[in-house]
Parts: sequence; C-alpha cells; structure tokens
Amino acid sequence: MEKIAIIGAGLMGHGLAAVFANGGHDVTITDPFPEVLTSAKERIAATLKSIGWDDRAVAGITPHATLKDAVKDADIVIEAAPEKLPLKQDIFAELDSLARPDALLCSNTSVIPIGLIAARVGSKHRVLGTHWWNPPYLIPLVEVIQADGTDPANVTRMIDLLTRIGKVAVHVKKDVPGFVGNRMQHALWREAIALVDAGVCDAETVDLVVKNSFGRRLAVLGPLENADLVGTDLTLDIQSNVLPHLDRSTEPTPTLKAMVKDGKLGFKTNRGFMSWTDDQKAALRAKVTEHLKHLNQILRG
Ligand SMILES: NC(=O)c1ccc[n+]([C@@H]2O[C@H](COP(=O)([O-])OP(=O)(O)OC[C@H]3O[C@@H](n4cnc5c(N)ncnc54)[C@H](O)[C@@H]3O)[C@@H](O)[C@H]2O)c1
Repeated sequence: MEKIAIIGAGLMGHGLAAVFANGGHDVTITDPFPEVLTSAKERIAATLKSIGWDDRAVAGITPHATLKDAVKDADIVIEAAPEKLPLKQDIFAELDSLARPDALLCSNTSVIPIGLIAARVGSKHRVLGTHWWNPPYLIPLVEVIQADGTDPANVTRMIDLLTRIGKVAVHVKKDVPGFVGNRMQHALWREAIALVDAGVCDAETVDLVVKNSFGRRLAVLGPLENADLVGTDLTLDIQSNVLPHLDRSTEPTPTLKAMVKDGKLGFKTNRGFMSWTDDQKAALRAKVTEHLKHLNQILRG
C-alpha cells in the first residue's frame, strides 16, 4: 500500500482521495481554505456512500493544514489545485523540496503541459501527469503523461498503482497540451460552438444530434475502431469532402467570450448555451451519475 498525498480538496481532489482510500491506501489531503479542508472528510464520506462504496474508508484519510505536513511521508503526491499555471508552478517548486526524494510528483491538470508545470523542479525524473476525469470515482480513465525528463520507470509505477485500484490507465508518450482525451473533446466542442455560431442549428439541436447518434456508440466503439468498421476507404472519402469545411479557429469563439463576459456561466448562473432551473440542474447531474453507474455495471470486465 502506498501513502498518497492529494493537494487541493475541491471537486477532483476529494474524489481522488475517495478512490485511493477505497483502494485501501493511506491518504493525506490539504487545501489552503480552512472551510474546504474541514469539510473534506464529510464530503468524501458522502461521495463514497452515494456510489455504494463503504464510507468507513474515510478513516484512512487525514487532512493537513500545510503542504509540508501533507506530503512529508508521501510515496505519491497528486496536485489537484486550480488550473492556473503560476499556481501549479509554485506548488511543484515547493513539492520538489518538501516531498521525499523518491516520491512521485503528479499533476491532475486538464490541459497544461507537465513540463511547463515542472519548470522550476530540479528532479524532473519523478514528475508526471495523471489526468483523471470527472467524476473520478465513476469514469475509469486516467491518462498518465510522460514529460521530457520523466523516468519511464515512474510511468510504469504509476500505471501499476492505478490499475490496482481499478482504473484504466493509459500511457501518453508526449507532453502535448490537452494530452489525448481533452484534445478530442475540445475538437468536438469547438465544432459544436461553431455550428451554433454559424446558425446551422441551435444549441439544443447540437446536443440532440450527439446524444442520439455517435454518442450512443462511443462507450463501446472508439473512433478508430469505427473507422475500421466502416472501412478506411469510406473514412478517406468522407474526410476528403468534409475536413476543409470544419472549424479550425485557434482561439475560443467571440460567442463564448461574450457569454463569459456577460455572466452567462452555465450552471453557475443558470444561463449558458441554455437556461437552467435548480431542479433541471439537479436532475441532469443525477441522470449523468446514474448513467455512468449503469455503464460501469454493464461494461465491467
Ligand atoms: N473539474 C473537472 O471536471 C476536472 C477534470 C479533470 C481534471 N481537472 C483538473 O483538476 C484540477 C482541479 O480541478 P477541480 O475541478 O477539482 O477544481 P476545484 O476548484 O473544485 O478545486 C481546487 C481546489 O484547490 C484548492 N486550492 C487553491 N489554491 C491551492 C493551493 N495553493 N494549494 C492547494 N490547493 C489549492 C481550492 O481551494 C480548491 O478546493 C484542475 O487542474 C482541473 O483542470 C478538473
């Protein structure tokens, strides 16, 4: 069993703590906001219960007010602090001196290259990315990202650990922004927003199309399996015709920027691409959770 330190007790950090504690590992967790830290164990217990896991696992989790105390005995440190590069760089610079020399230092960043986050770390051989997906206790995948200086043995060590706690861990061999999953996800989101911007259809229609077409297959048929299934010759013909017309913007659209500027932040403010009541938000969250639980049951093994 390894000692795991989680940095940041927010949405992802508390979920990661739940998964490792459920796997029998000792977990420490820290967060600079006292109210977040003091509520962490309660939130983790509630999460464990909500997915039918034994909430007594929370006994293996120890909150610490300082980074130093949280990481001093850790074998593995996973940072799940906000997606701000300077903040993550500061944390990693501190971890380099505070953590044991043999401890692995991992970031759960969604898209930022690990090499940038580790810019001020001396011992780069032990730095890697571990990109989990929300909710981390229901989505199996973790992308394990090898940065320029990462020792490949540490990638193997991390993949072994993640596999032992039931995750599907994949090796991302190049430290590219967005890694594998978010590059594909945001290629889709860019096109989705561009279609609405161009007046091809409204936001509700974009989502109806995805949910009722290729979205239905994706959990059992990956895009490249699909290309083989229909034939690479057909795939070539389709791509030759359609690729020139797809959106290729290199920055977010003016529509998205205007929405954020106008406070249309989605669930946070009840207006985004669509309008949301509290009941609708709760219902959608519950539906996603039930769907993921159901998928995990039928796809296990
Ligand atoms: N939310 C998602 O769907 C998702 C999925 C995969 C990866 N991620 C990534 O995981 C990371 C955390 O995201 P989140 O959604 O949990 O955010 P969050 O805002 O819910 O949690 C971040 C936590 O970090 C704490 N924090 C702030 N400054 C800190 C510091 N200096 N040291 C330690 N903790 C600090 C905050 O108090 C907060 O509790 C981000 O890098 C994000 O991109 C998020």
